[in-house]
Amino acid sequence: METKIGKEELLDEACSIIKQGGLVVFPTETVYGLGADAFNEEAVRSIFIAKERPQDNPLIVHLARLEDVEKIAVDVPPLFYALYEKYCPGPLTVILKKSKNIPYVVTAGRETVGVRFPSHPIARALIEGSSPIAAPSANLAKHVSPTLAIHAYEDLKGRVPLVLDGGECQVGIESTIIDLTGKTPTVLRPGAITLEELKEICGAENYKGELGVALAPGMKYKHYSPKCKCVMKDATELGNEYAEALKKGFNPVIIATEKTIKRLGDLRSLSLGESGLDAAKFFYLRLHQAEEEYDYIIIERMPETGVYYSVMNRAKKSAAD
Ligand code: TXA
Ligand code: MG
Repeated sequence: METKIGKEELLDEACSIIKQGGLVVFPTETVYGLGADAFNEEAVRSIFIAKERPQDNPLIVHLARLEDVEKIAVDVPPLFYALYEKYCPGPLTVILKKSKNIPYVVTAGRETVGVRFPSHPIARALIEGSSPIAAPSANLAKHVSPTLAIHAYEDLKGRVPLVLDGGECQVGIESTIIDLTGKTPTVLRPGAITLEELKEICGAENYKGELGVALAPGMKYKHYSPKCKCVMKDATELGNEYAEALKKGFNPVIIATEKTIKRLGDLRSLSLGESGLDAAKFFYLRLHQAEEEYDYIIIERMPETGVYYSVMNRAKKSAAD
C-alpha cells in the first residue's frame, strides 16, 4: 500500500477514508494518533493489525463535541462534566461506562471506554468531518510515540493510506487518563495534566476519599523503546556513564535538562529544556533523534514531581531492558 503524507489539503480525503472504514494517521496536541471509525468493527480491527498491538489493549475514542459523549458512554457522572469544563478540549482521557454502540473490539472486551476531546484543529476537523475516531498512538507497538508526522510515517508507511501532517505536537506525551468508573477516581496514566491538579478538582466535594493511582491495561507492555541501548542515570553519573560507553566502542548521547547539559560541557547531548512541560514536549522527539544518530542513549533521572513525574513514567520504560 502506498502511504500519502500531506497537510490540510488532504483533510477531505482523510475524512472519506475514515467513513469508508480505512485508517488515517492524524495529529493531536499530545502525540500522533492512528484513527479509524469507532463504530466500524472491521476498521478498528485493522488498527491492531497495522501497529501490531496486543488484542487486550483497549483504544481511546476521540470526540469533537460534548453532546457525542452520550453516544458512546452511559451513566456519565457529574465529575466528567467538571473535568470537561476545566480541561477539554485538551490532553485528558476519561474512562466511562461504555454504551452498546461501541463495539467490544474498541474496548478490548471491557464494559468501559476511554473518551478524549483533542484540541488540535486538524484532529477536530477530521472527527467533525467523519465520525468519532478510535485511535492509539501512531507508532508500532513497543516503539517510541510519534510527535512529528515523519516519525509516524516511518513506523507505519505501507500499512496506512494517509498521514496528515499537523506539525509538531505541543504537549508531546500521551494524555492523562482518569478512570471514573470505580468507587474513587483513579489516574491510570500520568500526563501533562498532573496528579496534583486532578486531586484538587476530584476533591472531597465530588468523591469521598483520595484520588487513586493504578495502571492502564496498556502500561504493562514494553513501551516507548528506542531501537538502541538506553539507560537512565542520576545527573552526577552522566559523565561517567558517557565515558564508559565511549570506552566500550559505543557512540553515546545524553538526554538531559538544559541546566544539566550546561554543566556537562561539550559531551554530545540533546536538551529537554527548562521545565516539566518542556521535558514532556521534547522527550519523544529527543529519543527519535538519538536513535537515528547514536547507539547508546543515557537519560538523566529527573525529579518525580509535577509534569516531570509523567515524563519519568515514560523514561523508566524507555530505559528498561
Ligand atoms: O494522548 C493520547 O491519549 C494519544 C492520542 C493519540 O490521543 N493516544 C494514546 O493511545 O496514547 P494509546 O492507545 O497509545 O494508549 C491508550 C491507553 C492504553 O494504555 C490503554 O490501555 C488505555 O489507554 N485505555 C484505553 N481504554 C481504556 C479503558 N476502557 N480502560 C482502561 N484503560 C484504557
Ligand atoms: Mg501508545
